[in-house]
Amino acid sequence: MKFNIALLAGDGIGPEVIDQAVKVSDAVAKKFDHEINWKPALTGAAAIDAVGEPYPDETHKICANADAVLFGAIGHPKFDNDPSAKVRPEQGLLKMRKALGLFANVRPTFTFPSLLDKSPLKKERIEGTDLVFLRELTGGIYFGEKGRRDEGETAYDNCVYTRAEVQRLAKKGFELAMTRSKKLCCVDKANVLETSRLWRETVQAMEKDYPEVEVSYEFVDAVAMRLVQWPNSYDVLITENLFGDILTDEASVISGSMGLMPSASLGSDIGLFEPIHGSYPQAAGKNIANPMATVLSAAMMFENFGLLEEGKAIREAVNKALNEGMVTEDLSDGGKSFGTSEVGDWLAANI
Ligand code: IPM
Ligand code: MN
Repeated sequence: MKFNIALLAGDGIGPEVIDQAVKVSDAVAKKFDHEINWKPALTGAAAIDAVGEPYPDETHKICANADAVLFGAIGHPKFDNDPSAKVRPEQGLLKMRKALGLFANVRPTFTFPSLLDKSPLKKERIEGTDLVFLRELTGGIYFGEKGRRDEGETAYDNCVYTRAEVQRLAKKGFELAMTRSKKLCCVDKANVLETSRLWRETVQAMEKDYPEVEVSYEFVDAVAMRLVQWPNSYDVLITENLFGDILTDEASVISGSMGLMPSASLGSDIGLFEPIHGSYPQAAGKNIANPMATVLSAAMMFENFGLLEEGKAIREAVNKALNEGMVTEDLSDGGKSFGTSEVGDWLAANI
């Protein structure tokens, strides 16, 4: 097959980890006889510095005409510490999600047998964990009206959901649950929030269409707790945008390093694939960042094209690297570690 992939490296460690995912994807393309045309485009602080906005029209054109987007990371401390900044790198990501219709963010958490003792949680708590969050990505408090009143003394962010937005996300959740262990947890705060009550009511009404799926409803605060107590008791979890943002960061460290977990944002024909971690500015340019989350995001990209063998080849190479200690310093326990690009080279050579 022939693919056009938009390549948005972004900020901080983004360019370094993206380079490794490109190497590995090219090795996969060579092995399985595909052709990938990479289409680099600007985003984040890098785009603000170059052209004054974080998701320029030119970048949108490249993404909208591509078969998929591979994304690094965005964010820069010079904006985080300036609450008055009008243009921010993160706005680029939000604009892109909306413009490409990426309403479903798939964020898995799974464990690697060779890393069970790297987790901040006890081994017996996490063994067998294999869960997926489906986070709603283009609605809720992220996109509701926001502003200041009373001469700036009062600020507000509105949380808004429509039934249709909940239905399309929940449908993906039910469908995903059907391909797994048929358990779906709807995470909300229905004891307090009206939007959560709409979520719960909508999901309840859909249960009859999926009689085999066992649905549970849990409050977000309880899930935050149980996620670190018994992560292996969950399978598919669906939730709104902000709850999903917070819970997936919590879940991402269960496997031992935030540098391991990939994600996909889906909704239209064009999927976006990116590591869960951020731009990690302290590590930028030092060749120390873990490229595995981005490399595994490329695996999700192939799988989303229906190319399961290609995805599996990447996953196997990553497992082999972990088993053989071909890891960056976040996973080396002070022992021997390798650079970002060395790990990328090794993975590409082991496809
Ligand atoms: C994420 C990030 C983004 C979010 C930021 C960078 C806008 O934290 O992808 O989880 O909050 O959605
Ligand atoms: Mn986040």
